[in-house]
Amino acid sequence: MEFDVAFAVSFHNFACMQTAKSFRSLFATALFVVLTSTIFAAETNSSTLRRIATADGPRERLLLDFGWKFHLGNEWGAAISLAKAGSGSGPASRSFSDASWRTVNLPHDWAVELPFDQGADGSHGFKPVGPGFPANSVAWYRRTFELPEADAGKRLWLEFDGVFRDAEVFVNGWFIGHHESGYSSFHYDITDVANPGGQNVVAVKVDASQFEGWFYEGAGIYRHVWLVKTSPLAIAPDGLFVYSRFKNNVPGKKVEIHIQTRLLNSQTNSACARVRYEIISPEGKAIASDRKSTGLKPWAKRDVHSEISFRSPELWSPESPKLYKLVTTVESGGQIVDSKETVFGIRTVAFDANKGFLLNGQPYELKGTCNHQDMAGVGAALPDALQYFRIAKLKEMGCNAYRTSHNAPTPELLDACDRLGMLVMDENRLLGSDPANLERFKGQILRDRNHPSVAIWSICNEESRQGSADGGRVGAHMQEFLKQLDPTRPVTAAESVGDDYAGLMSALEVRGWNYHIGQGIDNYHKEHPQQPEVGTEQGSTVSTRGIYANDKVRGYVGAYDENAPPWAHTAERWYSFFAVRPWLSGGFVWTGFDYRGEPTPYSWPCINSHFGILDTCGFPKDNFWYYQAWWTDKPVLHLLPHWNWPGLEGKNIDVWCYANCQQVELFLNGQSLGRQTITNYSHLHWAVKYAPGVLSAKGYTDGKVVAETKVETTGDPAAVQLTPACVAIRANGEDVNVITVSVSDAQHRIVPVASNLVHFTLSGPGKILGVGNGDPSCHELDVYIPQLATHSIPENTGWRWKQVPNIYDNRLAEFRTDFDDSSWDKTDVQSDNVQWNAEEQAVFRTKITVSESDLAAPALELCFGRIHNEGFIYVNGRRVGESNDPDVPASFDVKSFLHSGENTIAVGVANWGGPGGITKGMSLRIADHPILPEWKRSVFNGLAQILVQSTREPGEIQLTASADGLSPATVTIQSQPCAPRPLVP
Ligand code: GAL
Repeated sequence: MEFDVAFAVSFHNFACMQTAKSFRSLFATALFVVLTSTIFAAETNSSTLRRIATADGPRERLLLDFGWKFHLGNEWGAAISLAKAGSGSGPASRSFSDASWRTVNLPHDWAVELPFDQGADGSHGFKPVGPGFPANSVAWYRRTFELPEADAGKRLWLEFDGVFRDAEVFVNGWFIGHHESGYSSFHYDITDVANPGGQNVVAVKVDASQFEGWFYEGAGIYRHVWLVKTSPLAIAPDGLFVYSRFKNNVPGKKVEIHIQTRLLNSQTNSACARVRYEIISPEGKAIASDRKSTGLKPWAKRDVHSEISFRSPELWSPESPKLYKLVTTVESGGQIVDSKETVFGIRTVAFDANKGFLLNGQPYELKGTCNHQDMAGVGAALPDALQYFRIAKLKEMGCNAYRTSHNAPTPELLDACDRLGMLVMDENRLLGSDPANLERFKGQILRDRNHPSVAIWSICNEESRQGSADGGRVGAHMQEFLKQLDPTRPVTAAESVGDDYAGLMSALEVRGWNYHIGQGIDNYHKEHPQQPEVGTEQGSTVSTRGIYANDKVRGYVGAYDENAPPWAHTAERWYSFFAVRPWLSGGFVWTGFDYRGEPTPYSWPCINSHFGILDTCGFPKDNFWYYQAWWTDKPVLHLLPHWNWPGLEGKNIDVWCYANCQQVELFLNGQSLGRQTITNYSHLHWAVKYAPGVLSAKGYTDGKVVAETKVETTGDPAAVQLTPACVAIRANGEDVNVITVSVSDAQHRIVPVASNLVHFTLSGPGKILGVGNGDPSCHELDVYIPQLATHSIPENTGWRWKQVPNIYDNRLAEFRTDFDDSSWDKTDVQSDNVQWNAEEQAVFRTKITVSESDLAAPALELCFGRIHNEGFIYVNGRRVGESNDPDVPASFDVKSFLHSGENTIAVGVANWGGPGGITKGMSLRIADHPILPEWKRSVFNGLAQILVQSTREPGEIQLTASADGLSPATVTIQSQPCAPRPLVP
């Protein structure tokens, strides 16, 4: 089911981006998706084996993205107690109140919410997070949920796709694990500390104080979190590997499917397991199957191997991404104890030193781009729909390969590449054969090796030890390690040296080239004729969308293909070199999309890179058509610049043309300016004396007009336009509509120099996720968050206390409302002085008055300065929680415990020697009603973007955009009912 739902979401978005022409075939595909889902469901239901829903029931994978509580800052110090286990303090403790914290859904990036700061690190996009900004660099996330009683006896796993970074995870006060890297996925078995039949709290402390890269990295839980439930005998996490083999690694009539399954027996009984495999074709037919049996000792793991052959396989490729499905069922004691669906593809990949990269046995030019996970409006936290949006944009340009620079990607990016058809160079973050690095790398390999899109592994990027002997040894070790886990894919690294065969270059099977085009590459090829090569990183051309002159002050670079830093090259320079050297396999352009940080060649006020062929929103820059011309067969004819140059009448304007026909004729206001012939991988150029009007072109092949285009001088801005990528989205709380905001003249032509500020309002079941405009020097916010505030009422008078023998008895009369404490001693709980110094126990009592309007607040919390050592808090006789760390403040959610008028607070305090009592006071913290943000964004050269996400309510979403002096626009988006992915309520 997971596959079908996710695919349908993405397919929907992808479909929306297509032209009406292709709608029919897409509809047919959509129908196929629906039909195949039904077939899969029917297959499972018709199973003769009994599927059980008890403690041994089959697996569930539930999305744990919704309803997290978030707090930026850490007022509680270290949360892990090294003295005692299970007693995480502050937000890590079970009864800590997060009621006044902001509610967020994942994926979430708090760095993108912060304002720009010139004092912050430019390569990370001038966001005040990381070294030098401790107050903004540590945050807490908490999520409370119920587990059904029926989960007792199941194995429960918490899976994190990625957290930036340094995550400490607590479940029900227990420290569960610490994961440092912000790029690798991790999972924990939480069975022992989970609370089936009751409430559970996951708390995650995220510390982004340290950078891992030199580009914008975001901060927070910026990928999905999952709760996985399995029976005690189950397939291990990432425990299934399926791959295809052909004789000589060239597709033929018969394919062998190799399957390895790791089973985990997490129980005290030994078990016999029968593993059944069924392969489902892209058309949804069961076409092959196999069975294997094995025995497992108690608390043991066991690998089961199988090989299934069949004829006439349908091959996966970017042009035809045919996907098979492996249904693995584990049966034990006559019951199905686990079943899992794994999407896979059948294809071969290889490199040949002379022919370059081979896909399915044929030379296949890699038309690739490198990318970071970063987009306008959302930072690093991309909902899956935006992964599909971006991959579809790259495909439109003719791109067929994606390098996940410089780290393990989000798994859902690979799903998008599998389904839409995009080869992936899957890159590891760091060179290192130390156990920690290998373990991280292993996780990436096990997680990603079933994806047909993943075609090449890159073990690192531009490491400073790449040319050293030790670097070579480390690389060779990693390559060998990798081959043990995945014998099917070639290995390279992104290497930034020239004609040099030392270290990594000789250790790895494929030589990767970052830059250095020219004689050095040719010499290397001659000197090492047996070694395959690939352009791992090329280009780094800089340009700003819609700008045609360099402007250091504003931080813009002209969009003619003329600018590249000293180490890099223009698009035309690198590509014309690679295109005629098939042994280089093609290459990966730095980058497909602009990203935050690395504001080359200028710095502040520029805050993001200019390397993208598309800007941060995905709006194409002119180079998009250069690549499209040489990377696709569709007729391309593109003119630049725009034709709004008031004041330059009679002056020469450089006009460039990208086209893939044979000749192009240019016209100004209908008058021919001559016909020119195109050289492969090049562009055409005219110097045109400017006159407003229409600049047009005709493209010819074999004397016939094959393409026409024009750019027109527009009038002044007159209206705002909203153009959604889709008319409808799915009401699953995840889907996103990408809406283009443009400013047009009275004739609906986009004004290419417009910069109007546009305001947005939204009604209906949707929310604005973010805004952007692709301007690399724009300091407007991408995300507007609700303003939360609280006010506190000190409650330090009227306290009385008395020592008692046993506060652990929650039936103690002293905790009750009707208890008379008038004879007790008064005490000051506000001072820093404790009440006693011995291993004793006491009850503290006071009364607080709460009004009806206080009770209407979104949250009411009791906050204690310090309780030494252990405290049990009662409100009106009911226990609200406990505190067990005397070094941190404690807060409790008491809204549902209070009533209007007088309320009794009682605190049982026990200390374990030394200071005992309550200090630093108590207050009632009342959350104010949040101030909701107003959304706005300026258009940049006529365009901006707004991302609208569905809620889980179906209905009509209305978005209105207005700007001073312009006519406004309203668009209606249907949010259609759908079955959301299974999730944790
Ligand atoms: C490369 C590096 C990339 C990026 C690029 C900019 O050397 O691998 O991460 O920094 O330069 O041109």
